[in-house]
Amino acid sequence: MTKLTVAEKTYHCQADETVLDTLLREGVQIPFGCKQGTCHSCLTRTLKQPPPAEAQKGLKDTQKRQNYFLACLCHPKEDMQIKLLDQEEMFSQGIVIANEMLNHNTLLLKIKCQDIQEYFAGQFVNLQREDGLTRSYSIANTPQQEGILEFHIRRLKDGQFSTWLHDEVQVGDNIAVSEPQGHCFYVPERADQGLLLVGTGTGLAPLAGILEDALEQGHTGPVKLFHGASKAEDLYRVKELQAFAEKYDNFSYYPCVSSTTNIPGEFTAGRANEVALAHMTDWKGWRVFLCGHPDMVTSMKTDAFLKGVAMGDIYTDAFVVANQ
Ligand SMILES: Cc1cc2nc3c(=O)[nH]c(=O)nc-3n(C[C@H](O)[C@H](O)[C@H](O)COP(=O)(O)OP(=O)(O)OC[C@H]3O[C@@H](n4cnc5c(N)ncnc54)[C@H](O)[C@@H]3O)c2cc1C
Ligand code: FES
Repeated sequence: MTKLTVAEKTYHCQADETVLDTLLREGVQIPFGCKQGTCHSCLTRTLKQPPPAEAQKGLKDTQKRQNYFLACLCHPKEDMQIKLLDQEEMFSQGIVIANEMLNHNTLLLKIKCQDIQEYFAGQFVNLQREDGLTRSYSIANTPQQEGILEFHIRRLKDGQFSTWLHDEVQVGDNIAVSEPQGHCFYVPERADQGLLLVGTGTGLAPLAGILEDALEQGHTGPVKLFHGASKAEDLYRVKELQAFAEKYDNFSYYPCVSSTTNIPGEFTAGRANEVALAHMTDWKGWRVFLCGHPDMVTSMKTDAFLKGVAMGDIYTDAFVVANQ
């Protein structure tokens, strides 16, 4: 058992616990989201000794040098003195400027945040409620001068944050927004490369931003989007994406429905990743973006690699489920 000292109070970390588990068990207020090292909302710092290397996975070198670490990845090997970060420094204040439904369970939320001007469509931010509850959401639009960020939020049954956003948050409300992070975005090099975008559910959010970015920047290679949902009514932006496909000769759009009944003629039957696998013949040289359900992202990443896509050309955003 190791000791954790936070603001002169001491807590005991059990053998199989992370720093985050211990602090939450002891009722210490520390934000967290994914508990898997993805969202970085549990970022914290040691005051003396460096943290274990595995707790710094994915951090910038400058952060590593300053002993920052992710509490959800940290199994302490020795006693630690910890400084929790000032949340006001980590978040900017945003204001909700629009909330409208994209389909029966997906909300388009627009937040204006003047402090966040530099980002890439497809990156994600952490949104934080006043009580500290924090969740990650992907940015669905390309950067705009007014600092407007768009999000697609799927309502989850009993989901604490998504239900709050759907049912309670109103235009004019304030909401805390973190710095954008993540590597799943479009870079304009190799404009003639094929781009394969595969997403499930609100995995369309980062892909819509990446698509817009690529086409607006004059990407000349073929761009294929496979968007999947279990039922036809769970898809959204269908007409808009069909119009996009008519406007841009190099863009093709495949809305996919995995249930076996009531599939409108314009949709393809099957899971988005399976439809994409059946459709694609030559994978070499393609850049692949995979967003949404973690199982789809993991299996499609392996499939794309085995088909010949270079690992460095595969970009993923898995919407990992928080383990509460
Ligand atoms: C990098 C990243 C980007 C993300 N981008 C988006 C986005 O653009 N749009 C979006 O809607 N969500 C996105 N998510 C997921 C989001 O962060 C939350 O996990 C999701 O909104 C659920 O939070 P909640 O508080 O409502 O549910 P919770 O209260 O955390 O969970 C409620 C129940 O739902 C289950 N659950 C949680 N998440 C999921 C899920 N994704 N699918 C199925 N069941 C789930 C839980 O196991 C639990 O049983 C992203 C996640 C990550 C890590
Ligand atoms: S990185 Fe620790 S909770 Fe997400």
